[in-house]
Amino acid sequence: MAINAPEGTRDLLPAEAAFWTRFKATAQDVFGRCGYQLIETPVFEQTELFVRGIGEATDVVSKEMFTTISGENLKTLVSGGTVKAKSRLSLRPEGTAGVVRAVVQHDLVPQGAAPAKLMYAGPMFRAERPQKGRQRQFNQVGIECLGAEEPSVDAEGIIMLMRFYEAVGIPRASMRLLVNSMGCEKCRPAYREAVRDFICAHAADMCEECNRRAELNPLRAFDCKNEQCAAVMEQAPKITDHLCDDCREHYETVKSYLDAASVAYVEDPTLVRGLDYYTRTVFEVQVTEGMGSQNAIGGGGRYDKLAEEVGGRPTPGFGFALGYERCVLALEAAGVAFPALPGVDVFCACVDDEARAQAFALACELRDAGLVAELDHQHRSLKSQFKLANKLGAARVVVFGPDETAQGVATVRDMATHEERPVPLDALAQVLAKPQA
Ligand code: HAM
Repeated sequence: MAINAPEGTRDLLPAEAAFWTRFKATAQDVFGRCGYQLIETPVFEQTELFVRGIGEATDVVSKEMFTTISGENLKTLVSGGTVKAKSRLSLRPEGTAGVVRAVVQHDLVPQGAAPAKLMYAGPMFRAERPQKGRQRQFNQVGIECLGAEEPSVDAEGIIMLMRFYEAVGIPRASMRLLVNSMGCEKCRPAYREAVRDFICAHAADMCEECNRRAELNPLRAFDCKNEQCAAVMEQAPKITDHLCDDCREHYETVKSYLDAASVAYVEDPTLVRGLDYYTRTVFEVQVTEGMGSQNAIGGGGRYDKLAEEVGGRPTPGFGFALGYERCVLALEAAGVAFPALPGVDVFCACVDDEARAQAFALACELRDAGLVAELDHQHRSLKSQFKLANKLGAARVVVFGPDETAQGVATVRDMATHEERPVPLDALAQVLAKPQA
């Protein structure tokens, strides 16, 4: 039986792989103009990093991590032994924890330094139940800015994210930007208590998991997918009524920058996001139609305590990530197609085996000159070579054959106008390298 790709994964076939490359290049362009530079971190990290960074009580860490034990350690475990914590590795479910770990490890933000502005693009792994827009391996593009707590960082990030979506073709009118503030370590504990008390008072109307969450991490109840819980939580206390003065001012300033840039947003005081590291600003971008329940194409926020959680000195941070596959679904919903792959410039055809070496040599020469050149590798007839050239979108076909060779020429056919002309063999490369009239 044929083996298919694992459930929840997707192959990016050439047309899409080319689009993914362009998508990343657009991100580098848009984010690069705000000073963000590429960083690459490993796709797996010590499990402990995610437990401490993202939070043990989050779904991402408690239910969705792909945790691996490498060969020798697996044998040790199976035979009843124990392995060191640093040998417990997990595929990254998101990029922030790894980037913050790298910033701390390499001291990228020494005291008094300018903020580190970093961007990344690559696969993330979450063992979720696959459905449309939800995969087990998916691609994210993200940014992290470490070392500045000014609200201008948050606004700059949100504005450039919205610019990016538009640059890849997602219509602004199809997106909704939700913003909220999660408060800080001064104001959030009291708010958390208030939510816990609220859940306890409505325990009978809420699911078992939310009742458990009340003790462990009550704010997670805002994320519960159970409709009854969601209805109850609509009446829960709002964080925006509990913000301290500093957090309120920070939030107001972020919003004023967005207003000044004419970036429309909706305030959503129930937006808490699924990761525990957030403080102050949180936001999410949703697509309003055609995406079903997995309609968040990106999101992020501020995480001023995360660097300390993973062993670094206090370093405020802000970032976001966007889901590539969901952006593709949003583009499909908006009727935007992948751009066509670039076609072949010249197809080098041959009438018989004698001429095959000439076609091969010309293809090599043209490629060296920077053209996209193709030729037959399957012993096709000349007619079938023309069919293939057509399929590949070749602009011109060069035919080598005994008659042509006897006259010291090859026939060059313009596939758009169907014009044919003989070109001396020693002038071929030069003629073909010129752009078509
Ligand atoms: P997140 O909201 O968990 O945030 O993920 C960001 C985006 O990744 C989502 O909005 C969605 O588009 C996409 N995504 C998430 N899970 C899946 C999945 N299973 N299948 C397909 N797409 C998915 C983070 O990951 C944070 N690290 C963002 C951040 C950066 N916050 C601060 N800095």
